[in-house]
Formats: sequence, C-alpha cells, structure tokens
Amino acid sequence: MQLINATTPLEEARAILAESFDLKFTKAVERVTARVYAKVKDRIPEIEWPFYAPLILQINRLKKEKDAVILAHNYQAPQIYHGVADIVGDSLQLAIEATRVKPSVIVQCGVHFMAETSKLLNPNKTVLIPDSRAGCSLAASVTPEDVIAMKAQYPGVPVVTYVNTSAAVKAVSDVCCTSSNAADIVDAVPGDTVIMLPDQFLARNTAKKTSKKVITWAGSCEVHETFTAEDIAELRHAYPTAKIIAHPECPPEVIQAVDFSGSTAAMIDYVKSNRPPRVVMVTECSMSDNVAAEATGVEFLRGCNICPHMKRINLENILWSLHTMSEPVTVPEELIAPARAAVQRMIDYSRKRD
Ligand code: 13P
Ligand code: SF4
Repeated sequence: MQLINATTPLEEARAILAESFDLKFTKAVERVTARVYAKVKDRIPEIEWPFYAPLILQINRLKKEKDAVILAHNYQAPQIYHGVADIVGDSLQLAIEATRVKPSVIVQCGVHFMAETSKLLNPNKTVLIPDSRAGCSLAASVTPEDVIAMKAQYPGVPVVTYVNTSAAVKAVSDVCCTSSNAADIVDAVPGDTVIMLPDQFLARNTAKKTSKKVITWAGSCEVHETFTAEDIAELRHAYPTAKIIAHPECPPEVIQAVDFSGSTAAMIDYVKSNRPPRVVMVTECSMSDNVAAEATGVEFLRGCNICPHMKRINLENILWSLHTMSEPVTVPEELIAPARAAVQRMIDYSRKRD
C-alpha cells in the first residue's frame, strides 16, 4: 500500500485515496451533499465542489464505521467546518467537549496543541491529527525550561499558561487559560501578580481587564501579530459603516481601535447576535467563511490572515487519517497527570464562572 504522509502533494494524495474510495462526483453524491453545499456555496467556488463532496461523503461514512468524532476549530476551512465536523468551537469549547465525547476515536481538525489537549483529557481514547506538523508559533515560543526559569525568578507567583503550548509546558504550569477566559483565570488564581505566557499580546490585553500585575513572555501569534493600528484606520476609512472585530492575540493598539474583541467563539457570537450589516473579522480568514453561512444578511469584508498551520488539515488527510488511524497523538506518561491538572483547573474555573 502506498502511503500518504504530511508531504504528499494533493493530486498524489487523491490518486492514492481513489484506490480505496470511490471519489467520483455522481448525481447521488451531489444529492446527499446538497445540504452542506447550500451552506458553503457563497464561500466555495462551484468548480471546487465536485472535489470536496465525495470526500465529505466518505469521511462521514467512515466516521461511523470507526466510532470516531471530529472536533474542528473555528479556523478550519468551510468544507471541514460545515462538511464533516461533529463539534466546532474555540479552544475552550473544544477542550470541554473533549471531556464529554463518547466515541473511542477523536479526530482533531486543528493544530497539534489542541490534539494534545484532547489526548490529555482522554488518555484512553485514540486521538488522531491528520497532519502532525500543524504547529503554532505560540506553542513553539516557550519550553518547560523557560517556565521553570521564570518560576525561579518570581518565586510563588502563579503561572497562567495559554492552552497554545505543548503538554510539557502545561505540565510545569499552575493553570491554563484560553482567550475566552484569560481575565477570569487571572482573577481566580491567588495573589496580586501572575506570570502569563507565552503570548505577550494576550497578556497585555488581559492586564487591562484586571487589577493584577501581569508578567509577560515574548511569544506571539504569527497570524495576529502583523495587524497594526494603521490597518484598522485604513479599514475604517475604506468601510466607514462596518463593525471591526478582532482576536485578543492582536497587539493592544489594534484591540484599542476595534469595536469588539474576543475569542473565536465570542467573535462568532457577536456577529450572530448583533447582525451588523457589514463586518470585518480581524483574525484568520476562515472565520468569516464559516460564520457567513449562519449569518445571512451580514456582509463580510476582508481584513484577515491565513494560519498556515491550521490549513495543513484538509479533507484528503482527514480521510486518510480515519482510513489508516494515523497519526495518533501520544503524550509521555509522566506528563499526562500534571499537564491534565493544569487544563482541568481551567475547565473547573470556567464551569464555576458559568
Ligand atoms: P480561540 O481559543 O479564540 O479559538 O483561539 C485559538 C487560536 O489559536 C487563535 O489563534
Ligand atoms: Fe497558533 Fe496563531 Fe495559528 Fe492560532 S492562528 S494556531 S495562535 S499560529
């Protein structure tokens, strides 16, 4: 059997998959996938649908056969988000859902730290990531040794670690946070000072919402760090009536200049509940593609960047992943309990808040 691996070109991957699956776009395939297409037709060019539809059908069939569930982050492409995902959400929602899912296999459509978080919360389940190279510039910016050195420099100061980190970093942290609960977690931990890592911008944006002193780390998200206050001024000039909303991984000058900021889920909620006639989502580009299907009447204007890590996941490698049960995520035994404790503390704090 030929193998599809992370570097296999798309054309080649399709040819290999066609040896095991019928990937023809027939009238029957068109009919069965019509509901999904209706949701994404304004976002996916008509010419591309015959390639996606048979893959969607095969993935959904194989999911049942393998007792699998697909968790997909809000930054996944619309054909994944609307076509094959069972559960979609921001990092916090996906972490909470990972504690509730029944099937024995989880396919994580997102980046590696998200799959690791699911594995930590489900050590006895098989967690697959369709491309294990799907990293994150934040997760890559800090090591456990860095955290231990920070703790030595600031003895007794709690370490609040963004979930966008490796299990090894989580294992030496006191508690995790996501962009949707960062200020609440900082307020909930004891003391008047916290170390918050690795995202310097999320830490500075969070510091504005709490009276505590926040010690930062020098990490940043390669997708959000490039947005500037000048970009927002240009968007305002070009689209004076549009609401501009941004993710808190953007620099503080950007957050100050926009109408709303929040986690990916909070941004989606903002659009769905406020229904602004025109909106710019200053974040990853798939966000507006995904929410557009559920927010008719809202015009989405472009002001986004693509996360190359999120885009490593595609329908081809999801199908291959289910077919071959690759690539299983593993976490070293000794890291599971301490890393899981940091994630669980966050979930417990968040549940208390709700
Ligand atoms: P959310 O927790 O808001 O989904 O963010 C995750 C992420 O990676 C944003 O870049
Ligand atoms: Fe990491 Fe930024 Fe991509 Fe989110 S958007 S996964 S923070 S690199």
